[in-house]
Amino acid sequence: MTATTNSTAANSAPTPAPTPAQVNDANRVIIFDTTLRDGEQSPGASMNLEEKLRIARVLEEMGVDVIEAGFPIASNGDFEAVREVGKVVRNSVIAGLSRANRRDIDRAAEALQFAERKRIHTFISTSPLHMKYKLQMEPEKVLEAIWDSVSHARSYVDDVEWSAEDGSRTEHDFLCRCVETAIKAGATTINIPDTVGYGVPEEYGALFTMLFNRVPNADKAIFSVHCHNDLGLAVANSLAGVAAGARQIECTINGLGERAGNAALEEIVMAMRTRADAMPYSNGIQTEQIMTASRLVSAVTGFVVQPNKAIVGKNAFAHESGIHQDGMLKNAQTYEIMTPESVGLNRSTLVMGKHSGRAAFRAKLKDLGYALGDNAIEETFVRFKDLADKKKDVFDEDIIALVDDSIGSTNERIRFVSLMVVAGSKGPQRAELELEIDGELVTTVATGSGPVDATFNAISALFPHEAKLQLYQVHAVTEGTDAQAEVTVRLEENGKTVNGQGADTDTLVASCRAYVHALNKLLTKRQKTAPEALSA
Ligand code: KIV
Ligand code: ZN
Repeated sequence: MTATTNSTAANSAPTPAPTPAQVNDANRVIIFDTTLRDGEQSPGASMNLEEKLRIARVLEEMGVDVIEAGFPIASNGDFEAVREVGKVVRNSVIAGLSRANRRDIDRAAEALQFAERKRIHTFISTSPLHMKYKLQMEPEKVLEAIWDSVSHARSYVDDVEWSAEDGSRTEHDFLCRCVETAIKAGATTINIPDTVGYGVPEEYGALFTMLFNRVPNADKAIFSVHCHNDLGLAVANSLAGVAAGARQIECTINGLGERAGNAALEEIVMAMRTRADAMPYSNGIQTEQIMTASRLVSAVTGFVVQPNKAIVGKNAFAHESGIHQDGMLKNAQTYEIMTPESVGLNRSTLVMGKHSGRAAFRAKLKDLGYALGDNAIEETFVRFKDLADKKKDVFDEDIIALVDDSIGSTNERIRFVSLMVVAGSKGPQRAELELEIDGELVTTVATGSGPVDATFNAISALFPHEAKLQLYQVHAVTEGTDAQAEVTVRLEENGKTVNGQGADTDTLVASCRAYVHALNKLLTKRQKTAPEALSA
């Protein structure tokens, strides 16, 4: 079947849900973001509720059609995330994931109760390998589970997505039977994941062509791609699926996800925008919001974007060589296939100085995609003024780092007050730290092998804890020796990880803030799981 015939199949499908997309245009592709679910499954990428809500708001603002907010049966945190995202997001469909059993589906339905637009996404493995070793189920039993789970999900919602886990390694005859069963049972979206990132574009596209040709009721559903990036082919495979007639793409911001990650949303939508001649598909994404989403996800997870990453890497629009710079000055199109502005990057990001007032600061925060309350704005404004006193040029990135550091710091049990460090080659390095713990000022002096170690030892002395440091990462927010350092600290306790962020022109202060931030997050997590464990 040709791409044209397949898009006819997509065209005649009923709109799967009251999505904002209202897919009545044959070439409209639904963007399904799973940063909060598949993305969060990356080891170390845990996000708390407040962070998930911030990301969900940005995704909604940028025009994402479906936001998969979590896997409600997996944990109370996931349940809460789906429920709370469902309360605040109004324009995007909110999806909750479930395995193919009634308990999972009941839990997903409960989590979605407040969502205006909701989808239950249920999945089961269909490949011989997964059925035999993971599920230990015969194919006929898998078919029964598909029927039962999809019908049960349909008893709650009209919008049901069914996924064939490891679909790209499933035998074609069996996959056709599974898809036909799911659609008969009421699935409105059929997702065929390349779960292990094994597919190659031609073959993955052909899989959809095969399904459109052989599944008799294929025209009753929207088909979806979901590609992992183990061979670096996730975006290419996704676009091949779309060329074959799929009209939903599942992806994540910055390509976050298990192992090598998922297909990157920003790469997919910019490929469609830049090469609309070769890929005449539309989507509802405001690409100018891409950088805001990318920075936020990176800051929250501590997953730094590689400098040469397509679209959102620091160097993606940088031109170093003389020949390139010369060409750029004559005509930007010589070396630029898309403008920095189209992804939300301003060429000159110099923003404000010490004379900027509250109104300008408020406007800048809004511009950067932040919706902060008055107290948070005030707290960040004070820190901004302080920074502007120390640093000649204040860039957008500086403000983002400050806000990310400050957000959520209210109501924290432990607060950073001051730090004095003696460092250098003569040793011993020594940190004099003052914290406020539960409203009380406490101070200590500690030594360590290096100033960071001394600082962290001082924190442990003031607030003894068992959490293990898993990651300590520093990066310069902008250029120059007066740049702010943005530090990420990852702590682990009883298998739970949290990421803390801190920013300051002093790397040690940023480190201390990041550690304290992580510790506070751990306390909140403990409080939710075992209130009795709170006495540090
Ligand atoms: O990769 C995968 O197969 C998945 C499914 C649960 C949709 O994430
Ligand atoms: Zn996946």
